[in-house]
Amino acid sequence: SLQIAKNILLEAANGHYAVGAFNVYNLEGISSVISAAKDEGSPAILQIHPTALRHGKGALVAACISAAKTANVPIAVHLDHGTDEQEILDAIDMGFDSIMIDCSHLPFKENLERTKRITIAAHSRNVFVEAELGRLSGTEDGLTVEEYEEKLTDPIQADEFLRETKVDALAVCIGNVHGIYPKDGPKLKFDLLQKLGEITSKHNSFLVLHGASGLSPDVIKECIKHGVRKFNVNTEVRSAYVTTLREPKKDLLDIMSCAQDAMKTVIAEKLKVFGSSGKF
Ligand code: G3H
Ligand code: 13P
Ligand code: ZN
Ligand code: NA
Repeated sequence: SLQIAKNILLEAANGHYAVGAFNVYNLEGISSVISAAKDEGSPAILQIHPTALRHGKGALVAACISAAKTANVPIAVHLDHGTDEQEILDAIDMGFDSIMIDCSHLPFKENLERTKRITIAAHSRNVFVEAELGRLSGTEDGLTVEEYEEKLTDPIQADEFLRETKVDALAVCIGNVHGIYPKDGPKLKFDLLQKLGEITSKHNSFLVLHGASGLSPDVIKECIKHGVRKFNVNTEVRSAYVTTLREPKKDLLDIMSCAQDAMKTVIAEKLKVFGSSGKF
């Protein structure tokens, strides 16, 4: 429900730390997040991208919901990058606690209007809403946005967007990238992040940063100082999984558990850097 997601982020805001949202594709992915969160005494967010949802369907969502319920740490289940209105409404029916409305590919006014309309529907069903302003470059689940298409988030637009849409969380672009960063490393605009953090908190909304894979612990800590409360992590966990699968091993269960352990190691490390370890 909205309250589960909101409480996780409110606790993070009060404690000056951030929460990790990890993309999951299957049971091993879910188990790796849950067991890392349990070991670390940390909250976490299980998130499913629409392409993963189309593959795993209701069974994947049900597995997330059941894992979240039985974990002894707070876990929310979130739809990542929902672009299709019907798909978002279906996700609400399936029992997601939280959904992302990603109309960041649309012009500002259209993004605002569509986000506002879907947010009303989501809130009436007691579901938490994240939206995005600006646009990230990079690659995620087969979709590539070129660097020249990247748009930094405009603080004046962010203020109007939050006032009008009343979304619970806002994902911003300050130079963060989906997937791998260029060889010379990420160049995040912290001045812009600072302003956006002030604006989101003025509207009682939470600041979200996508593309956390590839950001160093120092950069992550700087982002948290400027108000980031949710980091989306996909690529680093997925590569740990895929790399381990490629190692020659005899037994399927052995392969599965090694791959799961590899993901868990990456996730536990992130929970430490986000500062959410030991909070529960
Ligand atoms: O069109 C939506 C894609 O998921 C792009 O999302 O703006 O975060 O890169 P993004
Ligand atoms: P990374 O793949 O760069 O971690 O980004 C994940 C993300 O933003 C998921 O929405
Ligand atoms: Zn993302
Ligand atoms: Na990244």
